[in-house]
Amino acid sequence: MDTQTAAEHLKNGDLVVFPTETVYGIGALASDDAAVRRIFEVKGRPQQNPLILHIADRSQLDVLVREIPESAQKLMDAFWPVPLTICFDKSNQVSDLVTAGLPTVCVRNPDHPIVHDILKEVVEAVAAPSANLSGKPSTTRFQDAKRQLEDKGVFFMEGGETTIGLQSTVVDCTGEQVRILRPGFVSQSQLEECLCEQVHIENQPDIVTSPGQLLEHYAPQGELTVLMGAREKRREWLQQQDLTETLLGLVGDVSDVKDTQSVQLSEEDDLQTYASHLYGFLNSCDVKGMKKIILELPSYTDHDLFPALLNRLEKASRGNVLKLHQY
Ligand code: TXA
Ligand code: MG
Repeated sequence: MDTQTAAEHLKNGDLVVFPTETVYGIGALASDDAAVRRIFEVKGRPQQNPLILHIADRSQLDVLVREIPESAQKLMDAFWPVPLTICFDKSNQVSDLVTAGLPTVCVRNPDHPIVHDILKEVVEAVAAPSANLSGKPSTTRFQDAKRQLEDKGVFFMEGGETTIGLQSTVVDCTGEQVRILRPGFVSQSQLEECLCEQVHIENQPDIVTSPGQLLEHYAPQGELTVLMGAREKRREWLQQQDLTETLLGLVGDVSDVKDTQSVQLSEEDDLQTYASHLYGFLNSCDVKGMKKIILELPSYTDHDLFPALLNRLEKASRGNVLKLHQY
């Protein structure tokens, strides 16, 4: 399928799975209530979890929002199309189905040639959550998106592996202070540097301000344990375990781990590579039907991507993160 055909499908009210620079998305024409409703059905997504709007160009923003606060303007100037999703007060052009009844709408301008071409062709905003079943790991490889969503009557636009692998950072610019609703590729310190003010991270957002924080889990079927700490501590711990029928996701030198099924996600200090492989790893655990999974986190906790990775892995493991410390 080419981008023009994908755009036609969207304009006809069909759903299309497409790559973005972060993860695959499943899109619907935002102004088509029936199509938007189908996104929730196909994903099994709770109705109260709002969708992000995707636009090709900043000129499309004006009809979607009531106003553009100064902070949002600064962030767009500095970052777009880097994956930063901004929450605005919505205009009455945006359907309540998209925003799950909230008075705000989240908008992003993705940086990927395929989705960019599709959005340009569609002209209108496209509502698109991540292309996975609700609660399951997001998808960074075409085959994973296809496996999770096949037989749902949606169209697929192939686009190889996504590069970033972590969803966009979601920031709320509607209040006095800018708040991070979901940590992601753009870090707290990058945002603070741009705005010259403190940016608050919402740790325990309530269901009304950010439903997704409570509902999304990125979780594989098997029991996932995440190991956090210095490499020696992690390997000491691993040596004491019975690892039969366990899949290991390792970081850094793997020569001291013997006779086990394992995958190396990245080097110890390469969190970008780790992020880009994370959802592929979690999806392959489901493909292999693994019942037990142990996954190392890189020990480089000062890295900009660390908070977002820890956030995803706390959810994916249902809080099962072992902190073995001594960095
Ligand atoms: O990188 C991304 O953002 C990917 C790609 C496909 O663009 N999209 C994505 O969408 O991750 P989704 O639906 O999986 O996550 C969107 C998050 C959810 O946690 C949702 O609750 C939150 O954004 N959200 C959307 N609209 C909101 C609003 N008006 N207020 C607060 N949170 C909102
Ligand atoms: Mg999602």
